Amino acid sequence: MRFEIFTLFPAMFESVLRESILKRARERGLLTVNLHNIRAYATDKHQTTDEPPYGGGGGMVLKVEPIVRAVESVLAGDSAPVILTTPQGERFTQRMAAEFATYPRLAIICGRYEGVDERVRQLVVTHEVSIGDYVLSGGELAAMVMLDAIARHIPNVLGNAESAPNDSFSSGLLEGAHYTRPPEFRGLCVPEVLLSGDHAAVARWRRRSALQRTWQRRPELLLNASLSESERYFLGELADAWSRGES
Ligand code: ADE
Repeated sequence: MRFEIFTLFPAMFESVLRESILKRARERGLLTVNLHNIRAYATDKHQTTDEPPYGGGGGMVLKVEPIVRAVESVLAGDSAPVILTTPQGERFTQRMAAEFATYPRLAIICGRYEGVDERVRQLVVTHEVSIGDYVLSGGELAAMVMLDAIARHIPNVLGNAESAPNDSFSSGLLEGAHYTRPPEFRGLCVPEVLLSGDHAAVARWRRRSALQRTWQRRPELLLNASLSESERYFLGELADAWSRGES
């Protein structure tokens, strides 16, 4: 999968692309990330990319011409989705990440300063996306978050053990508790069943741990999770214990 990222700060992406899963995916040819400096597409002597807003008020607005020129010349008529990162966009979710990963090519425009000239939206943007209800200084961090989350869904980017369907949210639940060696630390013991070698019992324990954590932290997710009869019964027990003040 190929990403075309339009930014005023391409260097911000370098360390993220040089480490861990994104690095490995790039080395294996599963992921290509092309960084395009919007400034290179400004045609005036000072390579201006932002100006004060018409009508006054504080702050600066990213200009329309350099961005549209950059996107049109890189995409050259290709119909790839063009995402604008903005706190006014649709909230980014795991489902959206999986959906974007089905495209062979994706463009992301990193918004900046107080905003982007409205005509950028009208001319080239197909999706506006926010990573949460808070304001970042610019869209670069948001683009990196999305890039990482989307890349995890590209076939073969993750090994079997890391696979995306086990991630929190993919199953509709949060992940449960994890342990590794040692079996006891400062009097805190790893649950016996995880040391038992009984794979079915371990799988059951993990699912229950995920259910319990979701119930405690994000109970609204349970409304859309697909649950078996016995899992519903287990949740009923958690609810009963809670109403008796036991959890
Ligand atoms: N730019 C600034 N804040 C943002 C946010 N929350 N999501 C996406 N882009 C942004």
